[in-house]
Amino acid sequence: MKVLNFGSLNIDYVYRVDRFALPGETISSVKMERFCGGKGLNQSIALARAGIPVAHGGCIGGDGAFLVEELQENGVDTENIRILSSPSGHAVIQVDAGGENTILLYPGANYAISRQQIDKTLEGYGDGDILLLQNEVNEIPYIMERAAAKGMKIFFNPSPLTLAVEEYPLHLVSCFLVNALEGASLSGEEGTEKILAGIRNKFPKAQTVLTLGENGACYDAGGKQYTQSAFPVKVVDTTAAGDTFTGYFIAELLRGNSPHAILRWACGASALAVSRRGAAPSIPMREEVNTFLQNR
Ligand code: RIB
Repeated sequence: MKVLNFGSLNIDYVYRVDRFALPGETISSVKMERFCGGKGLNQSIALARAGIPVAHGGCIGGDGAFLVEELQENGVDTENIRILSSPSGHAVIQVDAGGENTILLYPGANYAISRQQIDKTLEGYGDGDILLLQNEVNEIPYIMERAAAKGMKIFFNPSPLTLAVEEYPLHLVSCFLVNALEGASLSGEEGTEKILAGIRNKFPKAQTVLTLGENGACYDAGGKQYTQSAFPVKVVDTTAAGDTFTGYFIAELLRGNSPHAILRWACGASALAVSRRGAAPSIPMREEVNTFLQNR
């Protein structure tokens, strides 16, 4: 069983601010740092640091070579990342004193994926292989349809949420990984129980994982629900916490762990991620998560 993540690769420009800029206001940042990011790249790194071999499909511009190097250093297969003439995607991220963020995306090369590249990338995959998708690249409906036709299992994290998601062939998804906002939009409901029931009614074959920030996470597998509280830590930067959770959730699921253990690993990993700066650099190694969990 192989794992392919077809997703974004971004250059993250992270600005530390005391508080977010308001409409019409000019403020100065305290510090600026550049990190590897993109929900796609972050989730590939999370899977790799959790010990699961993963291949990444996507596009960068000539300015994004260091993104591919970062993936390679983490052991991710980058054979299906194309280098295009358009600039790489980037994100302008404000992080406030409480570690919360606002993110402005420029999709760049992430929106220049061709059907030819998709077909070529999927050539190496078949029945029972895993496809992970977020919502930061173009051609998602086509990727879903082609992957499903090959019998791949689709894990979909519809982040960032857009109106277009409603038009995607979501009946092909095996597992949704959503936050409360995304879950409310998919289900048309509010509140944990109703969101999970709503998604189950609409997509009876899919499992759902609902992340609840400081309230932990809930996993609905065939109508049976499992919950895990968040581990309290000092929040430095919440960027990539969801991506870390997603990577670890899938990794521990593929290891065949119990639902409780899967959620514990994923919540432990994301707790460590929020206690560190940056997107990809904040994602912990599995040994670090193990040590963290042993003390709790
Ligand atoms: O989830 C965090 C990521 O969202 C950042 O790395 C940024 O690039 C955006 O894609």
